[in-house]
Amino acid sequence: MPMTSPSLPGLSIRSGQGDYQVDFPADLTQLLAQLESFTKVVVLVDENVAKIYGSQLSPLLERSPWMSIPATEDEKTLRGVQRVLDFLQQNNATKQTVVIALGGGVIQDIATFSAHLYYRGLRWVYVPTTLLGMCDSCIGAKCGINLNNFKNQLGVFHSPHWVLICLPFLETLSDTEIVSGYGEILKLLLTGSTEQFALLREFVDAGGLRNPQLSRLIYESLKVKKEIIEEDEYELNLRRILNYGHTFGHALEAITHHGIPHGKAVAWGMDLVNYIAVERGILDRAEYDSIHAFIQKHFAHRLTRPVSAVELIEGSRRDKKVVDGKVNLILLRTAGELKITPTTYDAQLQDEVERYLAEKHVLSWP
Ligand SMILES: NC(=O)c1ccc[n+]([C@@H]2O[C@H](COP(=O)([O-])OP(=O)(O)OC[C@H]3O[C@@H](n4cnc5c(N)ncnc54)[C@H](O)[C@@H]3O)[C@@H](O)[C@H]2O)c1
Ligand SMILES: [Zn+2]
Repeated sequence: MPMTSPSLPGLSIRSGQGDYQVDFPADLTQLLAQLESFTKVVVLVDENVAKIYGSQLSPLLERSPWMSIPATEDEKTLRGVQRVLDFLQQNNATKQTVVIALGGGVIQDIATFSAHLYYRGLRWVYVPTTLLGMCDSCIGAKCGINLNNFKNQLGVFHSPHWVLICLPFLETLSDTEIVSGYGEILKLLLTGSTEQFALLREFVDAGGLRNPQLSRLIYESLKVKKEIIEEDEYELNLRRILNYGHTFGHALEAITHHGIPHGKAVAWGMDLVNYIAVERGILDRAEYDSIHAFIQKHFAHRLTRPVSAVELIEGSRRDKKVVDGKVNLILLRTAGELKITPTTYDAQLQDEVERYLAEKHVLSWP
């Protein structure tokens, strides 16, 4: 089914570095027309997006220097950033140059970092082409690049000048990447409210993951994130709740050497901490069961080998968010209400993770 961006009202994001607007061009023609307002631009485009959409994007690419970037974690490094900085310099970029980035989170992170460094900061416009980019990472100004095989170790906050979300890009995105984006939608809508989670369930149960209401789900997700980042742009406190599901999710990704898509790992990580929240009397069992049923149905994943509680706990210790030997678990009280809970690594935690793995089967293995 063709995806279009039905005319959604724009969102304005308040930021200490300058407010910016998120708009929803209906198709690539409208997108290109909106980008025409900039005369001096350099374009950074995801290699696959360039291959698939090169001819449609030609009005933009023929009038500006552009560089194709592979969306790999290897490229999301100082080496990849250096290539972009070299390109900016070779093309005589100045303070007036606007960087236009088209791609998913990898291109976004490279673009944010490079635009922040060059001439102490260039304006940059982001056109997300993955679901994760559209529903989550496009706002918030944060970026992370990898250092010596450790993920997201270097970063800056550099707000985009404008975000343009054009849903038709999702038509060529793989199912794996669609599920990955949904992990973040689930996180944001559970963070939002019972009603927003109910919308997610309703639309997905009726129309599957590529349902006709996907633009509404993206919009609702951004509204939730907007409220959080506007209150705590630099992740001093409240913004940490966006880490919901990520502590154990990241551990699982590391243990499996990324054998599970990010969004599935995060959905599974939410189910695990929700189970812990029930055990600790924070979350009601009936609510857990209803969220679990949704996760089991849409995010179940078969691993090539078993994982153990010990491995997961050891893996989570490497999280940047572990402080004084305690891990800040983000626990759900009810949809719309999360609690940052410093949690000791003890026998109780290990026992809970072990029982979760034995009783719940979002993850399976041979
Ligand atoms: N800065 C942030 O706030 C933030 C937040 C979350 C994640 N991230 C980072 O984002 C990265 C993941 O990003 P992602 O999930 O958006 O994917 P991605 O950028 O890794 O891209 C995934 C794949 O989809 C391809 N692709 C992109 N758009 C396409 C399209 N329209 N059609 C067909 N193929 C397309 C890419 O070429 C790539 O092969 C990670 O490095 C993560 O650390 C950053
Ligand atoms: Zn995530």
